[in-house]
Amino acid sequence: MKKKINLNDAYSLKTPGDSKKLYKKWAQTYDKDFALSSNYLSPKKIANFFNKYSMNSDTPILDVGAGTGLVGQFLNKSGTKEIIGIDISSDMLEMANVKKCYSSLIAADITKKIPFKDASIGAIVSAGTFTHGHVGADAIDELLRITKPGGLFVLSINSKVFIDGGFKKKFLKIRNIISSPIFKEFNAHGKHKNKKYKEVKILASIFRKK
Ligand SMILES: C[S@@+](CC[C@H](N)C(=O)[O-])C[C@H]1O[C@@H](n2cnc3c(N)ncnc32)[C@H](O)[C@@H]1O
Repeated sequence: MKKKINLNDAYSLKTPGDSKKLYKKWAQTYDKDFALSSNYLSPKKIANFFNKYSMNSDTPILDVGAGTGLVGQFLNKSGTKEIIGIDISSDMLEMANVKKCYSSLIAADITKKIPFKDASIGAIVSAGTFTHGHVGADAIDELLRITKPGGLFVLSINSKVFIDGGFKKKFLKIRNIISSPIFKEFNAHGKHKNKKYKEVKILASIFRKK
């Protein structure tokens, strides 16, 4: 039997190319073998924070590292929101497409120039993407460029990479162009017998571009 892909495989990625390769293999089984079986809560938590802090004007929403579309699924229960999903893995996006909660899906590397005009996006949401071996703090600069003044950010940042991955430094650097961020810690996974899931803590990082 083939070994199931797990968190260690995901956390040991090094380059965007590694992500593309891993998520190509993982796309078909991600929802069942990872999200469901690990009691993965981040997409729902991020969607709930968005609902709490957003205004009607925070549109369109860009889901960064949308993957198989779990954030979109929670965020767009009504089917009335305009949500664009972006991800480096077209295989993951194919799974998101089936869920019918995104107005468009774009395969692109968000560590490079993001294919949107300046000030064209109303809000950024993201779960599971700012973490070990995935996307680093510098991507926030491009996200700020494409976001409208006043646009809302609701990002999950793995607590373990918050300092080492340069996020703390990044927030200091951009402090004059964003509102004072709100940080809310939560567990990425609900109750689970496997200790490694219990240890994963997320800092939901919520702020607006000035
Ligand atoms: C752990 S999954 C999270 C997916 C989804 N947001 C969720 O919470 O289930 C991380 C996602 O980030 C994407 N990703 C990794 N590096 C990326 C990059 N440089 N640009 C865009 N997406 C990237 C992966 O392809 C993958 O779909």
